[in-house]
Amino acid sequence: MIYFDNAATTLQKPPAVAEAVLEALQSLGNAGRGAHEPTLKAARVIYDTRVKLAKLLGAADPSRIAFTCNATEALNSVLQRLFAPGDHVLTTVCEHNSVLRPLYLAKTNGVEVTHLQADALGRIDYADLEKNLRPQTKAVVITHASNLTGNVTDLDLVADFTHQHGLLLVVDASQTAGCLPVDVTKTGIDILCFTGHKGLMGPQGTGGVYVRPGLAPRPFKVGGSGVHSFLTTHPDKMPTALEAGTLNGHGIAGLNAALDFLLATGVEKIHAHEEMLMRRFVQGVQALPEVKLYGDYQAAERAAIVSLNIGTLDSGAVSDILWEDYQICVRAGAHCAPLLHRHFGTEQQGAVRFSFGCFNTAAEVDAAVTAVREIALQYAQENRD
Ligand code: ALA
Repeated sequence: MIYFDNAATTLQKPPAVAEAVLEALQSLGNAGRGAHEPTLKAARVIYDTRVKLAKLLGAADPSRIAFTCNATEALNSVLQRLFAPGDHVLTTVCEHNSVLRPLYLAKTNGVEVTHLQADALGRIDYADLEKNLRPQTKAVVITHASNLTGNVTDLDLVADFTHQHGLLLVVDASQTAGCLPVDVTKTGIDILCFTGHKGLMGPQGTGGVYVRPGLAPRPFKVGGSGVHSFLTTHPDKMPTALEAGTLNGHGIAGLNAALDFLLATGVEKIHAHEEMLMRRFVQGVQALPEVKLYGDYQAAERAAIVSLNIGTLDSGAVSDILWEDYQICVRAGAHCAPLLHRHFGTEQQGAVRFSFGCFNTAAEVDAAVTAVREIALQYAQENRD
């Protein structure tokens, strides 16, 4: 089997991840709910994971990172509570539904939302930020990399804009945490949402949100916190403000082991490998008859994601052939990115997405190029006049 669905979740993880989860299942108590050794051990593992995440993401204070069960929960926890009626938010058509839907919900509460458009290659025009600025604009909410095209946002440029106008910068790093270097402090990111099971190579059910010092998020979920039990309101101090109920200690222990691997290997090195695979694949398929790629493949910086279609073939049918005839795993369909698919005119067809990971090899890429070539040639033959 060749696994090229790393943008959905990484399947091949450092072996230490599974070992850490198993060990945690057999030894962790509930963090912050007592003082016996199993609960202290859980608290230590969770704190240590915050420290490693802070190091990876460039955050000076680990307590500014709260754990969530995925990026969607992280995004909801901030986007549902950040804005007041009358506020205006700038976002883009490149966003995933985990950004779009919380903002649609905010719209029903009187928040105005502008979606910046994309060009033929799926790129936004950064000048549109300024053009769509209003006195009521409160924030820019933007993906670091599109989960459909792999196009990367120039966060330094967007941060310059938000700093200049006193806006909040909220970044969806679902496709980049662990894959591309991110430094929340250097870039000046106010809020960064991430998942643990993609580039960070932790277990599913892990993720988190960084909130910069000085910003007080309003709790989204309220409930048990292990502290201040007699208060009628949820504690508002980070990270507890965004953590209610028992944390996924077992998953976080796995994420901790994945972070050891990432910090020892270096995100730059992982990115260089994934980028080599992505560019090798593009090189192999871009000139094939009937193959159309979506995204900016000339860009200097890209996530290791390539989406394509073959003629008018349904993307789901192509992904079935790839799996059944070649044992290659990809993701077809709409990728929860409806506005960008609509923009490309692929609402019905969808697209076939190949996404490369740390443990993939050049030989696997070559096998996928061969597979796409064979499917494309057969399609071209069948559709010849
Ligand atoms: N958001 C994930 C993807 O793009 C699941 O596939």
